[in-house]
Amino acid sequence: MKANLAVVALVVAATWTLRAGSAPTAPPAAVATAPDYDPQGALVLPKDFREWVMVGGSLGLGYGDAPPAHEMFAHTLMEPAAYRHFVDTGSFREGTMFALVLQGTAESVLPARRGLFASTMHGVEMSVKDSSRPGVDKAGWAYYAFNGTSAALPRTAAPAPKNSCLNCHAEHARRDHVFIQFYPLLSEAAGDPTR
Ligand code: HEC
Repeated sequence: MKANLAVVALVVAATWTLRAGSAPTAPPAAVATAPDYDPQGALVLPKDFREWVMVGGSLGLGYGDAPPAHEMFAHTLMEPAAYRHFVDTGSFREGTMFALVLQGTAESVLPARRGLFASTMHGVEMSVKDSSRPGVDKAGWAYYAFNGTSAALPRTAAPAPKNSCLNCHAEHARRDHVFIQFYPLLSEAAGDPTR
């Protein structure tokens, strides 16, 4: 009886070892890109932002009464490690960065007969959650506008005044200043798929 038990134990141990050995390895955790500032406190445009996770896209969303001079596509990109953290916890951690990439519209390029596609970049707006920065509100968000076309985007942008960006985000965004009501990928991850 004892011998049998020992065999069973050995088999169990061996199976366990085999399983552990053949288990698929977890994907490597995304290495976080931290926000970087120049000595004057301006945000440095992250080099790799165009490779971030695309969490939303919109066309011609207007915030004011007057129609915009040019309809634009806006794509919201999120730093990958912050995205992973949000999916795991439902919260935006310190160091979270978003980039809203604004592009003009183009049409009628063969073979397309109808529809619009995103063309030249007209600017990048960024938000960063970093409570260590001077002048941020208690949630820690600051906003930065890099105005320029793809070829001539400025390398840095100073923090924008609160009334030009932060107030609208603080008042109307569904979760912690972020407009997840426009981003199904994030609202679903947050268990809030209402839009
Ligand atoms: C009147 C409201 C309003 C103002 C003012 C505003 N935004 Fe936004 N912002 C939005 C909305 C709505 C979205 C949702 C996505 C979209 O526009 O495609 C958004 C999305 C963003 C995003 C993507 C992440 C997120 O929070 O959803 C960034 C980054 C951003 N805005 C930066 C800025 C900057 C920088 C300014 C000031 C120069 C600014 N915003 C001013 C309404 C506003």
